[in-house]
Amino acid sequence: MTGSTARRDAGNLALSRKEDFQAFVDAPRRTRPEILNGRALRALTAAERDAYNRARRQWHANLGPIRTPQLASLHEDLWDIVDSNMQDGDQAKGAVAVDAFPGLGKTTAVLAFAREFHRREIAEHGAFTAQGHERWPVCRVGLTGNTGMKDLNRAMLEFFGHPGRQTSTATQLGLQALDCVLSCEVRLLILDDLHFLKWRKTSGIEVSNHLKWIANEFPVTLLKVGVGLADKGLFSEGEAAGETALAQTGRRTTRLDMPPFTIDTEQGRHQWRQLLLALEQRIVLADTHPGMLADDLCDYLFARSTGHIGSLMTLVNRGCQRAQRTGTERLTQQLLDYVKNDAAAEHARRELEYAFHAGKATSRPANVRAVR
Ligand SMILES: Nc1ncnc2c1ncn2[C@@H]1O[C@H](COP(=O)(O)OP(=O)(O)OP(=O)(O)O)[C@@H](O)[C@H]1O
Ligand SMILES: [Mg+2]
Repeated sequence: MTGSTARRDAGNLALSRKEDFQAFVDAPRRTRPEILNGRALRALTAAERDAYNRARRQWHANLGPIRTPQLASLHEDLWDIVDSNMQDGDQAKGAVAVDAFPGLGKTTAVLAFAREFHRREIAEHGAFTAQGHERWPVCRVGLTGNTGMKDLNRAMLEFFGHPGRQTSTATQLGLQALDCVLSCEVRLLILDDLHFLKWRKTSGIEVSNHLKWIANEFPVTLLKVGVGLADKGLFSEGEAAGETALAQTGRRTTRLDMPPFTIDTEQGRHQWRQLLLALEQRIVLADTHPGMLADDLCDYLFARSTGHIGSLMTLVNRGCQRAQRTGTERLTQQLLDYVKNDAAAEHARRELEYAFHAGKATSRPANVRAVR
């Protein structure tokens, strides 16, 4: 037990046990620290200011999740699929793959869905099954580097804190996992970062077969999340001989995307603006003004994040920390220029900035441009 407790602290294994997941589901919404103006801020005693700043640091580090159009539409699709899978146990259920580039909010959106689903199921069916087992509507496994089949099965058992997990063979582990899934009446099985699964050679037949076994035997909706799953051959139609197994997986899997924000259509610019407006509302600095992000920094923030929500949130979070620490108490281009962002975003930035300066691109919707 001590080993698993120690491992639970590791960031990449967060939420890997049902207790963690329960804590995540039950966590109350964070309350936003009160927004003080400059004068009120200066009037605080040193101790009060420390406490206030600590609360703000925490708050800014956890600004999400924001209900972006991407998140909303993913949730709608997931509800459709999960609810239509509520047929009787002997029918094979449709699986889902959320396949998109890193940092687009896959994990965030899927976990937010899992939380809602868990709550709904517990509210409707109670915390215990008819047989008196704890009910766990969601089992969520996050894979780490180079996970094999056996590790995957073990990770599922880890989620349930099953004692048989140390010694058994891959097949035994799989059967024990199935046992847990049946007795806890799991309905949604999430495999996050599935691209970490060891894919033998190029075909991935073994992986595919294992996932198929899960999809066939486990009465769950299988929700696969990862980067480049299509390239791994997960949904290949399998025209080539010997790939019929893959074809079967492909047929049963619905692929859902999580696109970045774009600014080449009016709708895209509008959504970008809505995101910045929502984000603005959440920032707790003394010297902000409406439009601080949505009007003054919209092109700049787009160039620095290339519409990737992960990069945007990192930048805004770090910017807020810096604004607070240095006493600037607002976000400006000058301040954000000092803030480092992830390497991919920095790389893509130059070209976009050129386009903005040359007037070849804008992130402002037409009605906003007209007013300005
Ligand atoms: N809807 C959202 N609202 C606010 N912040 C978000 C939202 N979606 C994602 N983020 C932020 O973006 C960052 C990246 O999101 P997330 O980890 O969900 O991406 P991912 O697609 O799972 O990436 P990876 O492929 O690397 O696992 C996180 O820090 C998260 O806080
Ligand atoms: Mg993720």
